[in-house]
Amino acid sequence: ALISLRQLLDHAAENGYGMPAFNVNNMEQVHAIMQAADETNSPVIMQGSAGARSYAGEPFLRHLITAALEMYPHIPVVMHQDHGSAPGVCLRSIQSGFSSVMMDGSLMEDMKTPASYEYNVDVTRKVVEMAHAGGVSVEGELGCLGSLETGEMGEEDGHGAEGKLDMDMLLTDPQEAADFVAQTGVDALAIAIGTSHGAYKFTKEPTGEILRIDRIKEIHERIPDTHLVMHGSSSVPQEWLEIINNHGGDMGNTYGVPVNEIQEGIKHGVRKVNIDTDLRMASTGAVRKHLADNPSNFDPRKFLKESTKAMKEICKARFEAFGCAGNA
Ligand code: G3H
Ligand code: 13P
Ligand code: NA
Ligand code: ZN
Repeated sequence: ALISLRQLLDHAAENGYGMPAFNVNNMEQVHAIMQAADETNSPVIMQGSAGARSYAGEPFLRHLITAALEMYPHIPVVMHQDHGSAPGVCLRSIQSGFSSVMMDGSLMEDMKTPASYEYNVDVTRKVVEMAHAGGVSVEGELGCLGSLETGEMGEEDGHGAEGKLDMDMLLTDPQEAADFVAQTGVDALAIAIGTSHGAYKFTKEPTGEILRIDRIKEIHERIPDTHLVMHGSSSVPQEWLEIINNHGGDMGNTYGVPVNEIQEGIKHGVRKVNIDTDLRMASTGAVRKHLADNPSNFDPRKFLKESTKAMKEICKARFEAFGCAGNA
């Protein structure tokens, strides 16, 4: 059944668990997430980015998720629009049936230029008014994702400020977060604590200086009733990095957000954890390996099945680690 983000995250807060929110672009990802949820009895958040809408086409993306609802009627599913660049984008998702939208007013509409606090409050409040009138939830974002090692947004495919950022933008201020939530009425708040989108987050295993879990605790103390969201939270599995590079791939040395650090965040108010890169890496690794091991195969179903299986294992591991298994 389709449920709102607020309904799910309220349940997560009451029961002390966190939810992975997986980005989806194609049928195999939807299959992988739903099979994993079914096997672990977990609720589901699937989210579509602007990139996903332009890849699949909005109707295909929406129908893939509604097909999952039809096939798994016993699993609660949130259909969430990721990183809306403007109120109009969110309005179109609300009209087409999404149960949750993100208004990312931390950046201007170009999704590159950091926005002022006043702009962010203004566009986010507008979306909350529209969305709540229809029972749709809203996620806002305060602070800009980016690396505390380099000051770069660290993202290779859009969704991040361009070039170097002021260091103070890279960490959400707890006092400002309290004011932002009071002024906008958002259901969930994405915060900046040193993570960034994509595979290249950290050049080494992150320490407490470059991955500021302590900041989550400070924000949660200030606004204990607000559901916090961690973006850029793929763990960048070293085993998949190796499989990719051992089968013709060429990815650089890189580290993600360790699962145990996410678990620490969940203890302090993190309820939604955005994951895209991990499924991309598992899918690519599985396809590369299958094609290398089976050079005569030309049936895409065979390598796509391997992709689904690899992504499903990641989904199951996250459902279990974040404590949402058993809560469907
Ligand atoms: O927000 C970042 C997600 O990883 C989506 O990326 O825009 O390439 O679909 P995308
Ligand atoms: P990753 O690139 O770490 O998977 O982050 C995804 C994300 O934050 C989508 O909004
Ligand atoms: Na989002
Ligand atoms: Zn994100």
